[in-house]
Amino acid sequence: MTKFNELFEQSIQNYLNKFPDSSLKKAIAYALSGTGKRLRPQLMLSLIASRGLSPESFYSLALALECVHTYSLVHDDLPAMDDDSMRRGKPTVHIAFDEATAILVGDALLTDAFSLISEHTSLSPDQKVQLITTLSNAIGSRGMVLGQVLDIASEGKNVSLNELEEMNQLKTGKLLEASILFGAIVANESSFEDYKMLAHHLGLLYQLQDDLLETLEEATVLGKSKSDTVRNKPTTVTYLGLEKAQELEKDYHQKIRQSLFKLDLEHTLFSTLIETIIQRSY
Ligand code: IPE
Ligand code: IPE
Ligand code: MG
Ligand code: MG
Repeated sequence: MTKFNELFEQSIQNYLNKFPDSSLKKAIAYALSGTGKRLRPQLMLSLIASRGLSPESFYSLALALECVHTYSLVHDDLPAMDDDSMRRGKPTVHIAFDEATAILVGDALLTDAFSLISEHTSLSPDQKVQLITTLSNAIGSRGMVLGQVLDIASEGKNVSLNELEEMNQLKTGKLLEASILFGAIVANESSFEDYKMLAHHLGLLYQLQDDLLETLEEATVLGKSKSDTVRNKPTTVTYLGLEKAQELEKDYHQKIRQSLFKLDLEHTLFSTLIETIIQRSY
């Protein structure tokens, strides 16, 4: 187990230890476990480390990002949304438990994310407000949730490439952006524009990869069921075809490299993580 994995699993345990024993506790532990890649926590913590700070005291903030992400997956898999049966290598929460539990797991994870931030012991009140504002803007009615609304509305429709990019940017890009901005806020950076540009292309690339993998890989490799075709979801891959979608992926990759150069983040833990993401196979 790497040091990151060990400390991150410990932060999940610390969080769960505060719960009274209940079916909710079991279901939250279940939702957070499995084959999740912990990408958002790693983005935040590797940026902090690449800016010369020790990441160790910021694991509970990284957990807040993973809680929000996990909530979004649990709700995304519900029958009223993508209706998926497998996630992170095992049955989805509404299948392993029931729908009411899956809804409540999401509600609890989303709410708890904000107390994990507000209860942090070494950040300044200003930094906490900045983090809470960043996260709530990223995932609320102008961010991830709006992206999910556009995603559901697009089922069975013809949508333009611009519309697909906007949807992907919102449903997936915004939380990735918040994860990078969390690192920048903790590291006391003063300007966020270059980070936002980097996150913009990373978000588009990550969702494009998700759509490419869904087309090219088996569900068992991905650890999740594949509902895009059944639900007639338009994606960048269905719009452009495989070859052009792969070219677009390279184009995003190039733009990400330019941002890393501009931010003086080449050859750091952060850029190594980004390169690993770009090579991902699940
Ligand atoms: C899946 O996210 C959904 C998208 C936003 C594309 P991840 O691929 O990061 O899922 P886990 O956390 O590894 O399960
Ligand atoms: C994931 O979208 C976005 C959110 C959960 C917010 P998808 O529906 O495309 O992701 P997968 O394929 O189920 O992981
Ligand atoms: Mg979805
Ligand atoms: Mg889905």
